[in-house]
Amino acid sequence: MTTKSILVFGATGEIGGRIARQCVDAGHRVTGVTRGANQRPSPDLSGVELLQADKGERECYTGTLAGRAFDVVIDSVPAAEHVTLAFEHFAGSIQHYLMCGSTGTFAPLQYLPADENHPWREKTEVNFYHQSVRDAAALDLHARHGFPVAILRPTNIIGPDRVPLELWGGRSPKYFRRMLAHEAVEIPVCGNILVQSGYNDDLASAFVSAASKGPEIDGEIFVISTRKAITLDRYAEVARDVLSSRSRVEVLPIEEIRQRYPDDVNAAGIRFLVEHMCFDLRKAERMLDYDPKFTAEQGLEQALKWCLDEGMFES
Ligand SMILES: NC(=O)c1ccc[n+]([C@@H]2O[C@H](COP(=O)([O-])OP(=O)(O)OC[C@H]3O[C@@H](n4cnc5c(N)ncnc54)[C@H](OP(=O)(O)O)[C@@H]3O)[C@@H](O)[C@H]2O)c1
Repeated sequence: MTTKSILVFGATGEIGGRIARQCVDAGHRVTGVTRGANQRPSPDLSGVELLQADKGERECYTGTLAGRAFDVVIDSVPAAEHVTLAFEHFAGSIQHYLMCGSTGTFAPLQYLPADENHPWREKTEVNFYHQSVRDAAALDLHARHGFPVAILRPTNIIGPDRVPLELWGGRSPKYFRRMLAHEAVEIPVCGNILVQSGYNDDLASAFVSAASKGPEIDGEIFVISTRKAITLDRYAEVARDVLSSRSRVEVLPIEEIRQRYPDDVNAAGIRFLVEHMCFDLRKAERMLDYDPKFTAEQGLEQALKWCLDEGMFES
């Protein structure tokens, strides 16, 4: 394997930190940039040269990063203006600019499993349209100027280090606290709705693999996740098992759940949760050698066990 010099923006984050860790473990030279404000857990970042700067400010490129050369730049949390600044600073000097996007751009899905050819550029009632605009602009930089952009789109992220998605549409510990107390919990609309989670270490591995690929990945989108979607019924069942919960699970309309927990339900999140999420990973498997090791059930179990160990469910 060729050693590369890799810059990771967001190198203390859940995905960015794992990308940085795995890049070092793969033998690359890794520089990480963050503002130094992250309070959430980070993986062991020994071997990563960590710099402090705001990637939204020009000074990051003309000051902090001046005189440094990189083969690959990875932005784990890109905003539209970050893509523009990266283009201005790195065009012509890097092999890849790898961006983390989201499968939320594809919603609502018109066929299952959806793949990268699924429509995503138009605004819909539920898609992450600002990310669609950002991604379209980034792909345009590739089409018009040859900027070597590839976009990796995870589904919702699961695994240790973060409260997993709950079925109120957010990441509230309160939902799982109710399960631990054997109190009733809810599933919105229908238990057969499909949800597909991506295990954090597996998602990071796709970026590390992409960094070693050739120009064939540029201008491309890749969906990354666990291999299978599961139903909301199954998701709740796994959570109950892990938490040894005897909670009754009620299927209710969104409005009724919102009325029950006006301060806890994530209004946009619960509306998004009732959209089927189910993706075909074959493009990432074929072009990035993506080989996720964990199932959604294992990811949920590990996330909940991490929460228990960290006392996240203690009130
Ligand atoms: N959550 C989900 O379920 C989900 C689903 C699909 C896709 N995604 C995507 O996955 C990515 C999540 O990445 P993550 O989990 O690693 O995020 P994260 O845990 O929130 O970490 C964000 C990282 O970026 C750094 N950062 C933020 N703004 C910065 C700035 N202006 N300049 C420099 N560093 C900055 C943070 O450090 P400082 O704060 O110290 O700067 C931190 O290191 C996002 O792109 C998200 O859209 C998430």
